[in-house]
Amino acid sequence: MVKFDHLLYGGDYNPEQWLEYPEILEQDLEYMRRAHINTVSVGIFSWAVLEPEEGVFCFGWLEEIVEKLYQNGISVILATPSGARPKWLSDAYPEVLRVDASGHRNFFGGRHNHCYTSPVYREKIKIINQELVRRLGSHPAVKLWHISNEYGGACYCPLCQQEFRRFLKEKYGTIEELNRRWCTTFWSHRYSSFEQIEAPSPRGENELHALKLDWKRFVTERTTDFMRHEIACLREAGSDKPVTTNMMYNFEGLNYPEMAPYVDIISWDSYPVWHKEPETVTASDCGMQHDIMRSLKKQPFLLMESCPSSTNWQKVSKLKKPGMLQAASLQAIAHGSDSVLYFQFRQSRGASEKFHGAVMDHYGGDTRVFREVTCTGASLQSLQELCGTEVRSLAAVLYDWDNRWAMEDAQGPRNKNLFYKETMEKSYRALRKLGLNVDVIDMSKTLEDYRLVAVPMMYLFKEGFAGKLRDFTEQGGTVLMTYWSGIVDETDRCFLGGTPHGLEDVFGLRSTEIDGLYDWESNAAVPVEGQEILRHTYTCRNLCELVEVNGAKSAVALGDALWGSREDVCRTESESDASCCCGAECSVNLLGGRERFGAQVLAVYGSDFYAGTPALTRNAYGKGYAYYICADFEQAFYDELYASAVKEAGVATPPLSEIPLGLEVTQRESETAAYLILQNFGDQDVAIQVTDGSYRMIYGGNAANLKKYETIVLKRDKI
Ligand code: GAL
Ligand code: ZN
Repeated sequence: MVKFDHLLYGGDYNPEQWLEYPEILEQDLEYMRRAHINTVSVGIFSWAVLEPEEGVFCFGWLEEIVEKLYQNGISVILATPSGARPKWLSDAYPEVLRVDASGHRNFFGGRHNHCYTSPVYREKIKIINQELVRRLGSHPAVKLWHISNEYGGACYCPLCQQEFRRFLKEKYGTIEELNRRWCTTFWSHRYSSFEQIEAPSPRGENELHALKLDWKRFVTERTTDFMRHEIACLREAGSDKPVTTNMMYNFEGLNYPEMAPYVDIISWDSYPVWHKEPETVTASDCGMQHDIMRSLKKQPFLLMESCPSSTNWQKVSKLKKPGMLQAASLQAIAHGSDSVLYFQFRQSRGASEKFHGAVMDHYGGDTRVFREVTCTGASLQSLQELCGTEVRSLAAVLYDWDNRWAMEDAQGPRNKNLFYKETMEKSYRALRKLGLNVDVIDMSKTLEDYRLVAVPMMYLFKEGFAGKLRDFTEQGGTVLMTYWSGIVDETDRCFLGGTPHGLEDVFGLRSTEIDGLYDWESNAAVPVEGQEILRHTYTCRNLCELVEVNGAKSAVALGDALWGSREDVCRTESESDASCCCGAECSVNLLGGRERFGAQVLAVYGSDFYAGTPALTRNAYGKGYAYYICADFEQAFYDELYASAVKEAGVATPPLSEIPLGLEVTQRESETAAYLILQNFGDQDVAIQVTDGSYRMIYGGNAANLKKYETIVLKRDKI
């Protein structure tokens, strides 16, 4: 785990844009000192200045600046410059430029416009990265490598297509297996060799779901491979300093959990659109992204970029109101960040980000924004002891990239507005409103640390996932799963037999149909008498699943669809038979077993032809409980349900007499101390009563009157 001895404060610094203004560079240092800045990221887009011509290096300016920063007590996060390449490079080697999905090679321009496979690009980045190590890698100012910048996008050039085929061959072994897993017999799309396969394209194959899913996986593999190449170059040249790469908000293009193991610390760039929706909504969304990032390694992360003022790429460039910057920055710290870093220190003079907010604007002096930055810097100074402390969660919400890719492409119950993210947010918010820390994890993570997990819309089950949920529940965990879960396997092939696949007995039900509602339609969950979980009637929209709670287990019981297992063969040969043809090792021998199940119905639908059938159920399984939420309910439904389920699961909530609307409650802890961080994102001042007298205030004002945007931090010694 990467440990810093203080919270990092500062951000992107692009002095190469100011080399002709030495007085400005001098002034920068003075203003950094005033604002309590202790860290800057340099070199992110400096390739053209560092290597103005092929093989001609010009590092003097950077060495000088890094040394000056060091003399002034400022640390450096040193970037590799692969995010944007110099013109000479793409002129001399056009194959480094990206090819789009229609097969057209791009011109020079923009950034992230390069092929991740190109041997030339890899060679050129190796040269410049290793030169960086030689010149600056062991400089004491340099604390961390910033690998590239916001990796993203894909290349469809012949080299990448070839790599895609290699990837598929490694995965499936034979073309027959690929055909089987991809269901290519549909529409006569069978392949007879790997050489025939092309990436999905709007001009070609665009409806073979498994192809598209594997292509997205491949893009992550390619990008990760490129990133690993960059890191390997640094290591080869002798640097053992930690590495990070800056990730993005809700970015669907890359499966971040797959990249996470290769970096030493997670970092990400946060640009929430404040003051548009109620602040509480934006704060919750932003907090959730912090939690997604923290959960990638379950360790402190870095807020690598954020905006001191307004961005210039959103529809409207809204200024942050006084106090907002500090609240947003401390929110990152609360959720487990060990830094607050900005894009950028000094506003560019020209080109596309000249109006993007910065610590220093074109005026170049003391401004309202600069004062807010200074004030936030001072706050971090007094919260240094939070650095390196953990955020531990007993509750987790699952959110998975493969699942998202597959489900959104699936041509299923609603082709627009499936609301995956919104649905998972409802579980997340309900838990956060109870003041709980929440991890947001993908299907690959272990569930061992949790007492309660929410599994919203987990359409795709990876191998072993059903078993993981089963064990979790059996051992006493509470799981809350929603409709449209356990429908397909890893290659988007529908499971045969009942759904949620492999878990019908855990949930005590079988899903039979799903109704897509028109936008203007709604239904309701009406609580069943005699239960204490849900008391009110709630509205649902969009999707209503019909489930059967008094049925028999799968008509065709296939067990977990195993990779390359004999399941299909067995099923075909034994379909009409109660016993399986293939002997004891086969999971199919349950066929015809007709094990009975039956969950408790907590609420029923209020209308339509399925009125009176289950809308919410609970099943006791092993030592735990498995809840099934059948439809897309309003937030208030989740709030009540989770309040009951958390209580039932015995998960302790924070020591507060109540949690007023808009109050964000987050806890960080170390071996010796626990910290309770309270932030008011609501419109009203709130009064907070801490019920555990061993907490004392270490930051902020008055708990009895916490104003909008205010933060207080309380501490309890553990020993
Ligand atoms: C980020 C990017 C920065 C800068 C910033 C502006 O996505 O990494 O280089 O462009 O956006 O908001
Ligand atoms: Zn390519």
